[in-house]
Formats: sequence, C-alpha cells, structure tokens
Amino acid sequence: MSLPFAQRLQNVETSAIRELFKLLGKPGIISFAGGFPDAALFDVEGVRAATEAALTADAAGALQYGATEGYQPLREEIARFMGSKGAQVNASELIVTTGSQQALDLIGKTMISPGDTVLVEGPTFLATIQCFRLYGANLVTIPVDGDGVDVEAMARLIDEHKPKFVYLIPTFGNPSGATLSLARRQRVLELAVATQTLVVEDDPYGDLYFGEAPPPSLWALSAQVAGSREFLVHCGSLSKILSPGLRVGWLVAPPALLANAVMCKQFSDAATSTFAQATAAQYLQAGGLPGALAKVRPVYAQRARTMVEALGRDCGDAVSFVAPGGGLFVWARLTAPNADAAAFAKRAIEQGVAFVPGAPFFAQNPDRASFRLSFATVAQDKIREGVAKLAQAL
Ligand SMILES: Cc1ncc(COP(=O)(O)O)c(C=O)c1O
Repeated sequence: MSLPFAQRLQNVETSAIRELFKLLGKPGIISFAGGFPDAALFDVEGVRAATEAALTADAAGALQYGATEGYQPLREEIARFMGSKGAQVNASELIVTTGSQQALDLIGKTMISPGDTVLVEGPTFLATIQCFRLYGANLVTIPVDGDGVDVEAMARLIDEHKPKFVYLIPTFGNPSGATLSLARRQRVLELAVATQTLVVEDDPYGDLYFGEAPPPSLWALSAQVAGSREFLVHCGSLSKILSPGLRVGWLVAPPALLANAVMCKQFSDAATSTFAQATAAQYLQAGGLPGALAKVRPVYAQRARTMVEALGRDCGDAVSFVAPGGGLFVWARLTAPNADAAAFAKRAIEQGVAFVPGAPFFAQNPDRASFRLSFATVAQDKIREGVAKLAQAL
C-alpha cells in the first residue's frame, strides 16, 4: 500500500549524492566525497571541560526545557563572537537554532509560499535546494565565478523575478569554494536596499581561512550601508569550527522575521538542546575557540595546498579548479567537451577514490562537468594517492 504523503514531497527527490554514498563502504576507498570537518581535530578536552562547567554552573538551566529563542548566556556569547569579527549584533537580535540547517528551514517556513521565486547561487548547498523546494520555491540560479556571485546578473534577476529573497554563501561557498569580493559585497547590500529585497547570508565557513582573513561578512558590512539591515539575514554555526554534533547554529534577522521564526521553532523542536547550548556557552566563555581555530586552520590549509598541487601535477589541463582560500572544498571541472562528472565519479570509485559530481548542486542548468572534492578529512599522503587515482580515471 502506498501512503498518502503530502503533496509537497513531490517537489523533492532523494539526492543523487546519497546513491553515491552507498558505494563508499568499499574497503580502502579514499573519500573526497564528504562535507564533514575532521573528527581528529575536535577539541575533545575543551568540550569535556565545558560540559562539566555547564553542569556545575547551571545544572537546572542545562537540563531543563529552555526558551525557544535560545539559552541567554549562549546568545550573549554568540553576539560577542560575531562582534569580535566586526559584526555588531545584540543578543536579542539573534536566536539559537539546531544547526544552521534549522535556521535555513525556518527561513523557508516563514518566507516561502508555493510558487514563490528564490534566487540562489549556481552551484549552492544541496540541502538548501531541497529544503526550499519542500516549501514550493521556484529556484532561479545566479552564476558564480572565482569572486563569488555575479552581482550584475543578480541585479537583472531581481528585476525580472521580484524574488522573495536571495540566498548566498558569500565566504568559502559549499560547493564552489568561492569568496565574494569586498566590492561585490557592498553592491549586494546596496542592491538589497535599492530593490527592497531580502538577502540571506549563510556563513558556516568564514572562520576557516588559510592565509588572510576573508572580507567582512555581509552582516559586518551592513553597518556601513544605510538601511541594509532591514533586508539582511545572517546564519552562523559552530558545526565547522567546534563540533557539528552539538547542533548549535544561529539566525540573525529583522525583528518581524525573527518573531515568526521563533513561533515556527516552537512547533518544530520547542528549543535547541539546552545541554548543548549550555556546553557551547561555557566553551565560548572559557575562550577556547581562538585556540581551536588556530589549530585547525593550518591543517586544512596544508591539505588544501596538497590537493591543489596534486591536481595541477596529475590532472594537468584535463581538470580546471579554483584554489580555495578557506573552507573544506575544491570545486573543479573536467575541461573536455561534453565531459560527464557522474560517469567520471563511477570510474573513480573503481580506482578506489570517491567524490561528488557537481550537477545536483545546481537548482537550474546543471554544469555536468563540475565536481566537488573535500580535502578536510584526508591525510596528505592519502590526498596525493587519491588524486593520482583520479588522474587514472580521467
Ligand atoms: C553552506 C552550508 N550551510 C549550512 C550547513 C548546515 O550546517 P549545520 O546545520 O551543521 O550548522 C552546511 C553544512 O554542511 C553548509 O555547508
């Protein structure tokens, strides 16, 4: 018997990527397919101490139901953390969410009616595509280059489609690895004001830079563009910088949007785990994050460099890519005419190396020659070995 599922499920399909993940069980496979941070880099001792401190300082707060908006000491710590990066925000202007994934879901739930147009980057984060489609969004893609989203195309598409909002990952994008230039960031904010269009900034990777820090977040820059905060939403997360298992993210948004998001969150999970929030608050308060970041940045930087060098050496002109300045991903493309990265992925698995083909990351007009490689969890010698196998599968 088939169950009478809601019509909205017809807007999404299980991703091609999941199908590929089934093949990853093969023993000895080198995987560039994941999107996880490296578990070996987790600050286990720091989190253990924070857990202990959470129970010692405020066991009732940590173990009881909590406010839907979030555990107040954590809201204050997040506001302080953002402030340390020049992004001034009051604790009352943000809510804690169960990962930034929930922030995206709440934005979808509060803003998207079936048939509404939303502009997204091509390519963009797959779970966002799926989530917004679940709410019936008509997704239109804006092209991306090495400097991030093409802002003039964005201006034209806003004019043409009058979208409900524009969703961007301006810093070390997933999967593009691209970072929006400072000039383009300013233009995005000016466009938001001029066209009265909401812009959503999703920023889980901004702290994972390899050399110089990236340009300030849209939220930080919005202080310089009059009126832009009225049209700006910012999503942040501890997942890639501390631990995705904590499931702690946050949403900064104009008051009316935040109030509706809180209402929807009440029906969704009532509150993010108070225990996780109290632990995160203690961790941030103890000042562990700068040290933890200083430890992980050079490791990811070294792995990224190793991958980029190996790709250049072993794949030559057959593969083009943008060397990332941070984050977890190298976005690449096969240069041969009509190349198909999905077929390449199958050949690569036979050689013992896995990655994700790029087409599913496009809400429209997929670039079938593109693919995403993550270097984050793979040791340097395995990165070299994996890229050599990739070259054999070309
Ligand atoms: C661009 C982007 N946004 C949001 C998320 C969701 O992360 P989390 O819910 O763990 O904060 C991810 C995770 O991979 C991501 O890549």
